[in-house]
Amino acid sequence: MHKRETWGSRTGFILAAVGSAIGLGNIWRFPYMVFENGGGAFLLPYFTAMLLAGIPFMMLEFGLGHKFRGSAPRIFASISRKAEWLGWWQVLVAFVIACYYVVVIAWTINYFLLSFTQAWTTDPKGFFFGAFLGLTDSPLNLGGVRWPILGATIFAWLVAFTAVFTGIRGGIERANKIFMPLLFFLVLIFIGRGLMLEGAAEGLNWLFRPDFSALLNGKVWADAFGQIFFSLSVGFSIMLAYSSYLPEDSDVSNNACMTVFINCGFSLLAGIMIFSVLGYMAAQQGVAVKDVVASGVGLAFITLPTAINLMPMPIFFGALFFLALMFAGLTSMISITEAVVSAAKDKMGLSRKKAAVLVCGLGCLGSVAFTTGGGLLLLDIVDHFVNNFGILLGGFVEIMFVAWFCNLKALRDYINDVSDFRVGSAWNVCLRFVTPLMLGAILVSNFIEDFAQNYGGYSTKAIFLFGWTMLLCFLVLSLCITLWRGNNRDAAFAYQSNRRG
Ligand code: ALA
Repeated sequence: MHKRETWGSRTGFILAAVGSAIGLGNIWRFPYMVFENGGGAFLLPYFTAMLLAGIPFMMLEFGLGHKFRGSAPRIFASISRKAEWLGWWQVLVAFVIACYYVVVIAWTINYFLLSFTQAWTTDPKGFFFGAFLGLTDSPLNLGGVRWPILGATIFAWLVAFTAVFTGIRGGIERANKIFMPLLFFLVLIFIGRGLMLEGAAEGLNWLFRPDFSALLNGKVWADAFGQIFFSLSVGFSIMLAYSSYLPEDSDVSNNACMTVFINCGFSLLAGIMIFSVLGYMAAQQGVAVKDVVASGVGLAFITLPTAINLMPMPIFFGALFFLALMFAGLTSMISITEAVVSAAKDKMGLSRKKAAVLVCGLGCLGSVAFTTGGGLLLLDIVDHFVNNFGILLGGFVEIMFVAWFCNLKALRDYINDVSDFRVGSAWNVCLRFVTPLMLGAILVSNFIEDFAQNYGGYSTKAIFLFGWTMLLCFLVLSLCITLWRGNNRDAAFAYQSNRRG
């Protein structure tokens, strides 16, 4: 059997795990979520979710990866042959995310270049939807490919490909060692300058002003847990793959805590960065901060460019912001790609290089659909279903399976044996009750909402095709791949044989 690659150092692993966790979600989703869900009061459900679900789930994934040393399908197959499909479900979810996540990175690359001329002029909204995206009227009408977006998409795939192709130490670890310090540096410069702008304090007041009545609203708690899962990259095969490259004597529990704390701390920094700028923008326009707040695509590509237009040194701020988004996105993209590559490698017995060519080649082809005029609409539907059902269902089944049908106590003992500090039985309680209960409740409410009305007002045909059918394909494909014996003659998915301890 080949010797499995390992991370070169503990710092390298932490940077890679943090690089995966910190992504677009921290910068454009978290600040808005705090603002919308009770301001400072939201931090209570958020940190509760972090402690009761985020940290235990991260420890579980690091523990599984460390013990079974494989990609997600291999880990689950090592526990029970019947559970392999769950790994493939998660890998397919990761593959689809990679296909569209890279296109959002491509937008940021374009906007980084456009920021030098502020090409969005005085109408960032019209520019983004019109001249830039060439948005069509329906996701069923894709229109033509937008060449600058396709070009940047290929570039971003090449970056991810190079990192994954080169290997764990020389590629992924090195890329994160370069990108992550740069990201922190850029964000700190942005905050340092942003906080000195007129109106910045008012922006932060809006962000953190607590509205404790929000805590009585179940949706606020669901949002906090949902944000924690997506942001930590747990439940969709990434952290399982990354932790499978930990050397034998590595710690698990401390690494998991550090990853979660750094990720959540960065989210707070991102909130301060965004709201100081929004406060300034509101002051310049003479309106309330709540009137300029937005999230997601609208925040990054419309609101922020509008704010940048009003700023002193707009080129500096514009380039800084989009460069930071790009680094945050690329490090997450590398991890998503690695999750898929490691699974293909394990099952098909391919070399890392061949698996990287296969996965990145197919992924790049899949991305083309998102670079068209209808790409944003398609992305919106696919992202909604992947986030609200793909990730959450995969995470829910994983936790139920490991916490209720496997020997959770034995896994805890294993983690305690290798870790810097021991975890107690509260860990089991969180994984058996708190996390599945919250995940289950969020899933049920998501199903009810999506059955009651079409997401985003899209046509039933589009929702059926790109939403529900996609989920069905995940299930059918994961079962088919599981049934296929694969051609890994080396380890032959030698269930049970590759466990440690
Ligand atoms: N965890 C990554 C993000 O937040 C995927 O964007």
